Amino acid sequence: MLDLFTLAKPFLHALPAETAHNIAICTLRKGLLPPVKTSLYPELSQNILGLNFKNPVGLAAGFDKNAMVVNSLLRQGFGFVEAGTVTPLAQSGNPKPRIFRLSSDEAIINRLGFNNNGLAEFVKHFAQRDPRLGIAGANIGKNKDTKNASEDYVLGLKAVYPLADYITVNISSPNTKGLRDLQKKEALDELLAELAKARSDAILKHRKRVPIFLKIAPDIDKGECENIAESVMLHGIDGLIVSNTTISRPVLLSRNNFGEEGGLSGAPLFTLSTKVLGEIYKLTSGKIPIIGVGGISSPQDAYDKICAGASLVQVYSALIYQGFGLVRRINAELPTFLARDGFKNISEAVGTKAN
Ligand SMILES: Cc1cc2nc3c(=O)[nH]c(=O)nc-3n(C[C@H](O)[C@H](O)[C@H](O)COP(=O)(O)O)c2cc1C
Repeated sequence: MLDLFTLAKPFLHALPAETAHNIAICTLRKGLLPPVKTSLYPELSQNILGLNFKNPVGLAAGFDKNAMVVNSLLRQGFGFVEAGTVTPLAQSGNPKPRIFRLSSDEAIINRLGFNNNGLAEFVKHFAQRDPRLGIAGANIGKNKDTKNASEDYVLGLKAVYPLADYITVNISSPNTKGLRDLQKKEALDELLAELAKARSDAILKHRKRVPIFLKIAPDIDKGECENIAESVMLHGIDGLIVSNTTISRPVLLSRNNFGEEGGLSGAPLFTLSTKVLGEIYKLTSGKIPIIGVGGISSPQDAYDKICAGASLVQVYSALIYQGFGLVRRINAELPTFLARDGFKNISEAVGTKAN
């Protein structure tokens, strides 16, 4: 069946990537995309950290930076949607153009630099989400010029706490100078200690415990993985998201845009991000839920992430090439993989091939 995306793709891809993205947001905002009739697969539902995920496929951060279309996105079949990254103050990001398609690789390079409308507007939009539609997370970051990063993250946590099902602390975007330095042991311990304290206060104030995920880069070595795993467990961070975009450049087929500066995402990121995911799964002994993201472009990729240690997965770049139909395809095929391998629920497959 010819879907709407197949018809729209040639027009969208003839436009600059960011213009096409803005059209997609506008279309969702106006409710012009018909909701997808999703089948429920009991074997795909999980309770993770007290949250009921009807399926394991989420939308990664960066698509809905200002939380404007969370409900419409959940109606496209996602089990969860992560809005943001939001910074305390609005900022315009890097000069355009700053998103590039590498079509032959089903990849994207972006150097957006946390363009967003700031926390006040984010919270206003996020408050409109309908909890019956699925899980919604809020991804927080720091402003470009902020010297004391912890202050920005604490501001973010406090603002989204009453509304979000989970909070992601993003210290791994490559397009904010120095951000990834927060992954280093001393800086990370300091940040996570501040966040743990802010969360304890918020638990008392709001009488609920909102899980915190830490989102990390794929460009880290084994020692850095060890440090991150240790800090996360020490400070009671609930989960990890592995991974953000890469600053490395695996062999690429595209002859256009491959030399652009920024973070690479999509199919060429799969191997690297899945390797780090497996590493982190082993280092945390499978005790900390991991959201696997990076280069998923088929149901098989999603299943591979799960077997490598992901309890949930997220997609972004592949949607630019395949549309939201990919979400339905992944959910429709996962039960077949589970049945073939003798698993009754997806949680049984998690980490079975971590190496
Ligand atoms: C255009 C674009 C913007 C992004 N913006 C953010 C962001 O604001 N915050 C964040 O944590 N990740 C952001 N990401 C990274 C994605 O959430 C995801 O981690 C990464 O793209 C790997 O997944 P993928 O290969 O499925 O795209 C962005 C990715 C893209 C392509």
